[in-house]
Amino acid sequence: MSKRMIAAIFALAVSAGGSLAQEVKVGVVLPYTGVGAEFAQQMDRGLELYLKLNADQVKPYAITLIKRDSKAPNGTEAKVVVQELLTQDKVDAIAGFSYSPDAIASAPTISAGKKLAVITNAGTSFITNLSPDFVRTSFTMWHSGYAMGVAAAKTLHAKTAVVAYTDYPPGKDSLDAFKNAFEANGGKVIDVIPAGGPGAVPDFTPFFQRAKDERPDVLYVFVPAGDHAVAVVKTYAALGMRDAGIKLIGPGDIVQDIKLQGMGDAAVGLVTMLHYYADLNNPQNQRFVAAWKKEYGADSTPDFMAVGAYDGMAAIVHAVRATKGTMDGEGAVKSLLGWTFDSPQGPIMIDPETRDIVMNEYLSEVVKGPDGKLHEKVLSEIDHVKDECKAQAIGPCAPKK
Ligand code: PHB
Repeated sequence: MSKRMIAAIFALAVSAGGSLAQEVKVGVVLPYTGVGAEFAQQMDRGLELYLKLNADQVKPYAITLIKRDSKAPNGTEAKVVVQELLTQDKVDAIAGFSYSPDAIASAPTISAGKKLAVITNAGTSFITNLSPDFVRTSFTMWHSGYAMGVAAAKTLHAKTAVVAYTDYPPGKDSLDAFKNAFEANGGKVIDVIPAGGPGAVPDFTPFFQRAKDERPDVLYVFVPAGDHAVAVVKTYAALGMRDAGIKLIGPGDIVQDIKLQGMGDAAVGLVTMLHYYADLNNPQNQRFVAAWKKEYGADSTPDFMAVGAYDGMAAIVHAVRATKGTMDGEGAVKSLLGWTFDSPQGPIMIDPETRDIVMNEYLSEVVKGPDGKLHEKVLSEIDHVKDECKAQAIGPCAPKK
């Protein structure tokens, strides 16, 4: 091509769209099909909404999302698509990971690719220790589980608990977090019940019947949100456990906003701990929920997964600007150490030591509002919560030497 032709194309591009935008490619790894498809939709919308609402922040760069399906929550497909995104599509960053096994299986490939990888959901604490390129804008199971353990003992005055959990890494983490805090504050976990896997919703009846027979003050349950959560709340009601004096508690995953209305009256009175509920009353969240409804429909609602992705895209945009679009892995990660953001969930920060999120936790109760709908009523707030598994350096949460 002659110099004149290049100059002409450049002039055309400038007159058509201002300046030539520098493209930044972000590979998105989410379970677009299968049991996690609703999670993928929430996160996909969160990523897209941030870009739409903050187009000015993104300029002069053009962010292209290259979306890949991680399918079943077992890590097999996630690892393959991460490899393809890094080597064939040559992405500048990765975002996503709904399920912990997907992030765990992909960690060595992420490290080899040396590109920033922002985790927008997967919650097993030690994941960020598996690769120096991981930064997490979602949560760890310890944020909610540990805070709930303290609240169960001190606020709900529970003395005994049974824990039921989906039997895979974040379930074990949530159990450990709750037990660690509950027992340090005078409670006793009298039984732990592995209750199926993440790939299919089990019948919770035998697990909860066992818990009911043990008559604890509280039943603490972790499941990976979605249809698992609906089944938990319905089984708790069907077995008459509330009337038997057993309170159902857990991380807010068991009352995921997109599933809450479908749970019906069985959910009223549930007390959970999480960093985000769509009902949070702060100006950023009000703007966020209004923009969400405008974009995706009045009956739709964001949830904690949507916010993890929205914040994740904010982090990526920050890194793009900080590295002037080069997105070299080390520079991109470095630019996020100590990064702060006014998220719809409240103020967040990336801990410069762990690359994990620091955020507020909200103890909340499900109530029926005057509109006849179910709402989350915040009972108390704990500010600037760090991942306690790393703070206590427990097992694989200890920093790598
Ligand atoms: C996870 O696999 O890490 C995970 C999935 C869904 C949740 C929480 C954690 O609600």
